[in-house]
Formats: sequence, C-alpha cells, structure tokens
Amino acid sequence: MAFTYFFRDLQTIELIRDHALPVLRTYQRVSIWDAGCAMGPEPYTLAIVLRENMGYMFFRNIIIYATDLDNSNLFGPIIKNAIYPRVEVERIPPEILAKYFTPQNGGEAYQISEEMRSALRFQQHDLLTLKPIGQDFGLILCKNVLLHFNEEHRIKVMRMFHDALRPGGFFATEQTQKLPKEMEHLFEPVVSHAQLFRKRDQP
Ligand SMILES: C[S@@+](CC[C@H](N)C(=O)[O-])C[C@H]1O[C@@H](n2cnc3c(N)ncnc32)[C@H](O)[C@@H]1O
Repeated sequence: MAFTYFFRDLQTIELIRDHALPVLRTYQRVSIWDAGCAMGPEPYTLAIVLRENMGYMFFRNIIIYATDLDNSNLFGPIIKNAIYPRVEVERIPPEILAKYFTPQNGGEAYQISEEMRSALRFQQHDLLTLKPIGQDFGLILCKNVLLHFNEEHRIKVMRMFHDALRPGGFFATEQTQKLPKEMEHLFEPVVSHAQLFRKRDQP
C-alpha cells in the first residue's frame, strides 16, 4: 500500500489556498488533477481545505480528478467509498473530523461526507504514458511521485503537466523536488520556499 496520510505536508496545501485559490475562484469551472493520489487522503485533504475557504456554491464548481497507477485495483473503491480506519484519521484536527466525517462501526472507521466525495473523480492512469487525462486544469498536484522516476521521465511528465494546464495554471509538487533547469522557461515559482509554480506562457 502506498504511503500517504491526511493533512500530509499541510504547508503546500495552505500555499495553494493562499496563492492559487484566489485565482481559481475567478473561474466558472475549476478542474484540478491530483496525479498519484494513492488511497485518497491527499485529494480529500485538498477538497476539505478548499471547502473550508469557500462557500457551497463555489465549491460545487470544483472537480478534483484523482489518478493513480492503481496496480492493486484497490484505489478506486477505497476512494469512492471513502471509508478509512480510525488510525488513518487520527491526525485530522478534531473539528475537521467532526465536520466532514461520519463514524462507522462504532468509531472503528470514518466515512468522508457526501459533499467531499462528489467533488472527486477517480481514474486509473499511468503518468508514464505521457498522455494527460484532460486539459485546462487550474491546478495539478503531484507529490511524492516524481521522485520514483528518472530525470528524463520526470522532465517529460512535467512537460505533460505544463501542456495540460490552462494559461496561468498552477503546479505543486513536494518540497524536495526541485524544478529541473529544462523546465524553468515553462514554470515560474510562486513562492521561494516551496515547490508551487505557475505556468508561463510559452514564447
Ligand atoms: C508515496 S505515494 C504518494 C501519495 C500522495 N501523493 C502523497 O504525497 O501522500 C506515490 C504514489 O504514486 C503512484 N505512482 C507511482 N508510479 C506512478 C505512475 N507511473 N503513474 C501514476 N501513479 C504512479 C503510486 O501508485 C503511489 O500511490
């Protein structure tokens, strides 16, 4: 099972909230791609943080496409049902847990709310096909995945992300993933202390 957890690297999610959300909320429809989403804690964390910062009507305009290689065929049903054992929700701030999750089996597991579930679309996808799942994304989040690829594949996947973003779209990756030199003409850093970038218009 892939390593992931709710509210992992909250700093990046909060930077998305602070820098990308003000732009995204000016769009009528917002498509977000979480590439390499594992069992769902990351896209659901993003959904919760976005919902905490926008009303019901704005949130309805957001769709988070959560994709993973899905070798095990477990990802789809787990993300769709969004029922997680208690141990996996323990890091979630109690007020958020109470607001967005319903206990199941006497508190042995928790199911995320219907509103969050309906914002997510899961699909199996191998990034190394270099074929994007769509176009015009306002934000692409790909964390703790690119480090598994060699430099050549990393650059090709980032180029694919660039092509799949709408003009001025955002790309976020993990803190330790530096932008390769070959990508500098495609993405500009949004902040100096994190790997949050904005699509540059191509010359
Ligand atoms: C360490 S997990 C990261 C999960 C989540 N993004 C996070 O940061 O918590 C890495 C994920 O990348 C997925 N992955 C690895 N190679 C992939 C590929 N070629 N295409 C899509 N997903 C891939 C794995 O299946 C796994 O779920």
